[in-house]
Amino acid sequence: MIKTRLTELFGIKYPIISAPMGPFYTTKLTVAVSEVGGLGVLSHATLRGKNSVKDMIAQLEYVLEHTDKPFGVNVRTARVQTDHKIMLRKIIQNIKQNPKLREQLVYIITSAGGSKFASKLLKEKTPDVKHFHVSPALWLVDKSFAAGCDGVCATGTEGGGHQSYEGITTLVLVSQVAQKYPEKLLVACGGIANPESVAAGLAMGADAVAMGTRFIASTESEFHPNYKALIPPATARDTMLTTGGFGPIRLLKNKYCLEHGKIMTKEEKMAQELALDMDTFLEDLYRYEIVYTQGDVEDGAIPVGQTCGMIDSIMDVGDIITNFSKKAEQILKKLSSKIS
Ligand SMILES: Cc1cc2nc3c(=O)[nH]c(=O)nc-3n(C[C@H](O)[C@H](O)[C@H](O)COP(=O)(O)O)c2cc1C
Repeated sequence: MIKTRLTELFGIKYPIISAPMGPFYTTKLTVAVSEVGGLGVLSHATLRGKNSVKDMIAQLEYVLEHTDKPFGVNVRTARVQTDHKIMLRKIIQNIKQNPKLREQLVYIITSAGGSKFASKLLKEKTPDVKHFHVSPALWLVDKSFAAGCDGVCATGTEGGGHQSYEGITTLVLVSQVAQKYPEKLLVACGGIANPESVAAGLAMGADAVAMGTRFIASTESEFHPNYKALIPPATARDTMLTTGGFGPIRLLKNKYCLEHGKIMTKEEKMAQELALDMDTFLEDLYRYEIVYTQGDVEDGAIPVGQTCGMIDSIMDVGDIITNFSKKAEQILKKLSSKIS
């Protein structure tokens, strides 16, 4: 068994976390991952609308009904994610009111925007829940810790979905963070989808690794079968960074992706946001919705990481977590046996 600060702190069996993947749902995936002994994470699935908070509370209730194990939740704090403050407050309110949620919700991971508001609120109201922020470059890791986060999820550019303008790889970023902040909690994410990369993340100093694309291609994930089916045949060259709702996004190269604009600087993106009319904004959201509602994988957006080149089959969540942990353990033992 691999014990880390996070397996101990969260009371989980394996140092493996499922990455949040809104606007898709990862509710059943969260249950599956946590039940096996990893840490499942709920996604901030809604992008708009007055029911978004209700939707999140329903997800929390579903998980509580289906597992007694620890889990986490993502709240995106992007400028255009206008529900994030109310979402955080409602989650806190539910933690206070529900002892089962208080016991099981151990990890709140914010992303896609700033961490200051969330960190202050969470420290004040729910100091027992660990607050992590997705941080894609060392200067952003500095900001997350200055804001009071307990840990960071250091996510490199090879990862799927929401990315930053920084373009730093997981190998560079995780080792930088481990070196600069050895006392802080660290999750490695992006480019992890096999036992070798799990071992590498831990060897660099991470307390756990998080995987997204690997878990999409699992029996239990609620991603559309058409989406799952695209992952095993895809190679690491089949993705590209394009313009997403919050910044760059790594998508599978399909019709939508290749026809979509490519904004690669923050300044350009802010100008685009200012000029954005509601119709264009909603049309882009629709391109995500048609993937999970209709399985339209040509005209819809398909976020995946370069990790799709490392995945050759749909696996059960239990096999992913137990096999990867066992093999990562063997890799690390074999390496240390070579040291005289
Ligand atoms: C379909 C999809 C949706 C994503 N949505 C979110 C999100 O809502 N919030 C977030 O913080 N990260 C999101 N991400 C990024 C993941 O949390 C994680 O960083 C990424 O999946 C890691 O790379 P990998 O897929 O190669 O494992 C998304 C990724 C994917 C593939």
